Amino acid sequence: MKSAVYPGSFDPITLGHLNIIRRAAEIFDTLYVCVMTNSAKTPLFSREERVELIERCVRHYPNVVVESSDGLLVEYVRSKGATVIVKGLRAVSDFDWEFQMALANRKIDPSIDTLFLASSEKYTYLSSTVVKEMAKYGADLREFVPREIIDDVISKVQGRR
Ligand code: PNS
Repeated sequence: MKSAVYPGSFDPITLGHLNIIRRAAEIFDTLYVCVMTNSAKTPLFSREERVELIERCVRHYPNVVVESSDGLLVEYVRSKGATVIVKGLRAVSDFDWEFQMALANRKIDPSIDTLFLASSEKYTYLSSTVVKEMAKYGADLREFVPREIIDDVISKVQGRR
């Protein structure tokens, strides 16, 4: 049984993330989607909220498990008996940082590899930051986030104004 971990901030999950989840879930027997802390970001949604939003969107993927961790990514990967980290790459601008993280993670644990999936061309422009900005100004979010979570994103973002 081959397992992989797809980590991220998911603040909130976007259609781009969901596209990577669907494709990675077709490659691996079990895909762990892990909501983690990115120390460079201040999240809008709590960790529990982000987990719940993702769970709602992946209900029909039987081999996807959603969890969270505030530890080191490689430790979480090890705890799941996995050896692969899945990351989505949207553009060359993502590459430098993602490559650096992949090398750092492999330095900590050489048995763990990072697999990059090229983002669907439909979603190369999309990020959680874009979603929050659009929601703030009342834009139609159907092109950006799974429909199951649109209302939650709008009320959270607009509640913060
Ligand atoms: O969606 P993001 O914000 O690009 O995801 C980045 C994330 C959360 C995967 C990354 O910050 C992370 O792995 N955080 C956990 C702590 C850790 O292991 N940091 C990397 C050490 S090189």
